[in-house]
Amino acid sequence: MAKDPVCGMEIHDGLAQQRTLYMGEEYFFCSEDCKVKFEGNPEKYSNIPEDEVPETRKVVVIGAGQVGATICYALMMSGIASSIVLVDVNPGLAEGHAMDLNHGLSFVSPTRIFAGNYSDCKGADIVVVTAGAGQKPGETRLDLVHKNTEIFKDIIPKITAYEPKTLLIVSNPVDILTYVALKVSNFTMNRVIGSGTMLDTARFRFLLSRHCRVDPRNVHAYIIGEHGDSEVPVWSQANIAGLALKKHCRVCERNCSPKERDEIFGQVKNAAYEIIRRKGHTNFAIALAVERIAGSILRDENSVLTVSTLINNYYDISDVCLSIPTIVNMNGILKHIDINLDEAERHKLRTSAQTLKKIIGELDI
Ligand SMILES: NC(=O)c1ccc[n+]([C@@H]2O[C@H](COP(=O)([O-])OP(=O)(O)OC[C@H]3O[C@@H](n4cnc5c(N)ncnc54)[C@H](O)[C@@H]3O)[C@@H](O)[C@H]2O)c1
Repeated sequence: MAKDPVCGMEIHDGLAQQRTLYMGEEYFFCSEDCKVKFEGNPEKYSNIPEDEVPETRKVVVIGAGQVGATICYALMMSGIASSIVLVDVNPGLAEGHAMDLNHGLSFVSPTRIFAGNYSDCKGADIVVVTAGAGQKPGETRLDLVHKNTEIFKDIIPKITAYEPKTLLIVSNPVDILTYVALKVSNFTMNRVIGSGTMLDTARFRFLLSRHCRVDPRNVHAYIIGEHGDSEVPVWSQANIAGLALKKHCRVCERNCSPKERDEIFGQVKNAAYEIIRRKGHTNFAIALAVERIAGSILRDENSVLTVSTLINNYYDISDVCLSIPTIVNMNGILKHIDINLDEAERHKLRTSAQTLKKIIGELDI
């Protein structure tokens, strides 16, 4: 007879429907609910002595500014990380955020949160990099390139010296900096991921959902290419609950014109400028996008996400980091998805890649 480690109920281990293996030991559960609870926090429920429990699901966030701090908050709220470490060139800022976040711990799942330094990247599953200069009003993401490349050449070796599993780059221009991080780190391409067009894709889905009056989670549509001015909306594959947008438009009474589509994409592309003009920075949606990527890595989800990664032989595009739908799991990326693009989309994707490659060619890396 075994005991469910979560609710304490006695169950016949031979009959138990739900079971899981943790650190070589098998656990039995009375229900799916208990199993999910256990897997969310096995250290709490297993028989393994606390000092023998390996530090799992550790995320280090480098750069505790608007974006970095909000990412920590989103990670803490979701409960997916067992440890969250904040590192900033301004240690007081990281400490202040860690203190503030810790004071909320009685309202969420147990998480260890502290301000640290680069040595805390040891054993990290993910190091999220948000350090760098932010985008100023009127400044394009590409204007930031030289400033942030120099910062990356300094900090990436300090991170990789401790061999974390995955680098997740958020600082802008994210595609260029993902490429810089890849080259400077010498990590294999699956371990270096940029947040890419995750945010743009989310904005696209939100705007389409509002326009078509349907839950954004039922809108399947991608923005690919650069996270920036040359990004590409994949209208040809956009669908609502499996119904191609073209067909959905026919049954919808709103009669959308190509002009309305252009307006939607314009709002996606210019969203960051519009938000920065009003509040000086963007932080909430990008933090949730990063939490989504981190979740797919930490929970080995194999989710299809528009992250920025090194591309080789994709519609004749090679040796550049940009976003296409990609399967993300515990090893970072598993593979890229070959989506069908129409001729115009292909052309735009190649142009986007050329824009990025031109900038990469001017960098001293
Ligand atoms: N990829 C996306 O979709 C996306 C969305 C929003 C913002 N961003 C980018 O994220 C980055 C951060 O934006 P923010 O609004 O948080 O800016 P911010 O200025 O508020 O924060 C940046 C932080 O980095 C720190 N920093 C600077 N140099 C450092 C170094 N060498 N080592 C450690 N820390 C260092 C600063 O002290 C600061 O706290 C920017 O590059 C911004 O453009 C990307």
